[in-house]
Amino acid sequence: MMEGVPGSRDEAVALDAADPLAGWRDEFLIPDPDVAYLDGNSLGMTPRRTIERVDALMRDEWAGGLIGSWDHWLDLPQRVGDELAAIVGARHGEVVVHDSVTINLYQLVHAALALRPDRRVIAVASGEFPTDRYVVDGIARSHGYEVRHGFERLDDVAVAVRSLVDYRTAEVVDLAAETARAHAAGALIIWDLSHAAGLLDVDLRGAGAQLAIGCTYKYLNGGPGSPAFSYVAADLIEQIDQPIWGWFSQVDQFAMGPDYVPRSDVGRLLVGTPGIIGLTAAASGIELSAEAGIASIAAKGRALTAYGLSRCEALGLESPSPTDPARRGGHFSVRHPDAASITRILAADHGVIADFREPDLIRLGCSPLTTRFTDVHDGTHATARVVAP
Ligand SMILES: Cc1ncc(COP(=O)(O)O)c(C=O)c1O
Repeated sequence: MMEGVPGSRDEAVALDAADPLAGWRDEFLIPDPDVAYLDGNSLGMTPRRTIERVDALMRDEWAGGLIGSWDHWLDLPQRVGDELAAIVGARHGEVVVHDSVTINLYQLVHAALALRPDRRVIAVASGEFPTDRYVVDGIARSHGYEVRHGFERLDDVAVAVRSLVDYRTAEVVDLAAETARAHAAGALIIWDLSHAAGLLDVDLRGAGAQLAIGCTYKYLNGGPGSPAFSYVAADLIEQIDQPIWGWFSQVDQFAMGPDYVPRSDVGRLLVGTPGIIGLTAAASGIELSAEAGIASIAAKGRALTAYGLSRCEALGLESPSPTDPARRGGHFSVRHPDAASITRILAADHGVIADFREPDLIRLGCSPLTTRFTDVHDGTHATARVVAP
């Protein structure tokens, strides 16, 4: 069935040869070069330098320095946050790397609600990533808020929670336009950048965004469960009243005083002792993305997904992912009623690692520092073969 389909493997090989970012793949540990790993949008690959960095951390700083290493570990969440700030268009002092997306979202929803005491509605999309919906539902239930699905009406909304990139279709929301619309309606908006950070050339400041959270284990290649981040625009930081009062956000942490007084910087979002090993791995991944350059990464992401969608069209695979590159994140999805079993067969028999997403999507992720055009070729080729053998 695939005779005469445009997009030969030779063409993919040529695209890889012409790819200015191709060399960055050598920075990663690739156990099997024949596997088409199209899941870097769930868990990024392992940077070689992270293995060395974590090894050095454990030998020199933990084993060697023991408790004394806390002198330079204490402010690591903010230092790593400052590295990340440059990648998402934030300024120094506006980003802190800590905890998980779920925890950070919980904190920011609480804090944002306190800033809109006269409103009782939280808006979230019905198709939003589950943890975001659950956090919103949980807060609404325990504090008596109404949850509204969708963002058409915002004039009575206190807080809207939105992903910049849809985790199913990869559709991208217009960050600046939707931030402006929410603010004009008097609503605060918390952006979930989990599928955007390290992939898109996000400009939080330029878009006027005030609050965001996101993860570091996808496109930032920080490793499994690496800590998430929180962004708060500088002029809002001191107004942030977050609900988890831990000693790491206490203004004078080691005074061990009787009362909780939060710090005045973005560190007021910290909770308890940060996981230094995970933070170190996150820092290493963030550093790689910063070195490669987010504009180049974003451009390659668009090229990979454009190539993937053109292959889908040629192979007769249905995709709900946007054709407009400005509206598309780092993956493209294939819709099929047997998506779950197809995804399993791709991994078991074809060396193609993708994701199944309910109810009917095979998600093919393109992580610009590691994904080759040949991976996209092979992934789509194998998908078409499994769909119509
Ligand atoms: C949009 C989005 N939000 C949140 C999460 C997960 O949050 P956590 O890091 O707390 O598991 C994911 C994970 O894939 C995600 O895609």
